[in-house]
Amino acid sequence: MSDGQWYTRRSVLLKIGVFLNGIVGLAIATPVIGYLLSPIKKKGAYNSWISLGEIDQFPEGQTRLAEFVNPSKHAQDGETSKTPCWVRRVSGSKFQVFAINCAHLGCPVRWFPQSELFMCPCHGGAYYADGSRASGPPERGLFEYEYKVVKNELHISSGQMPTLANQAGLVNIEGTGKSPCLG
Ligand code: FES
Repeated sequence: MSDGQWYTRRSVLLKIGVFLNGIVGLAIATPVIGYLLSPIKKKGAYNSWISLGEIDQFPEGQTRLAEFVNPSKHAQDGETSKTPCWVRRVSGSKFQVFAINCAHLGCPVRWFPQSELFMCPCHGGAYYADGSRASGPPERGLFEYEYKVVKNELHISSGQMPTLANQAGLVNIEGTGKSPCLG
C-alpha cells in the first residue's frame, strides 16, 4: 500500500469519526439544552390566564365547581390535565376561586351548600364559605387562584398551583380590588 493511499484512507476514517462523534454529541446535548431552556418555556404557561366561562354561569352568593385544562400539560397527561376548582361569586365581579386541594395534605375538598362548608374527606378538615379554616388539621384556609373578569368572562391564572408563595395580590377585577388573604 502506497503512502498516498494510506493517508487518503486515514483522512476518510478521521472524517467519519468526527461525523459520528458530532452525531453522538448532538444526541447528548439536545435533552440537556431542552432541560436548561425548560424554565423559559414553562414561564409562559405559568403566566397564562384561562377562561372559566361567562360569569353569568356563577350565580351570586353561590359556589360552583368549575374545570380547566392545565396549560402546562403534556400529551401523556390525558384526563389528569383537567383541573377542578371551586368558584364562589360573592357579588357582581367579586369572586373567590379556590384550589380544590385541601390545605392540609391536598385531598380534594367538597362544597356542601346545606351547611355552607367545604369538607375534606381525608381527615375531616372543614372550611367556611369564604375559604377560611373552620376546623380540623388544616392550619390555614383554602388556597386561591388569582383571577380577573374580562369581557364578562372569569379568567384565572392557572399555570401554577396556588400556594403560600403566590397568595399576594389575589384579585384583579378590571381595575381594582383585593380579596382578604385567607389564613
Ligand atoms: Fe384534608 Fe387532611 S388532607 S384534612
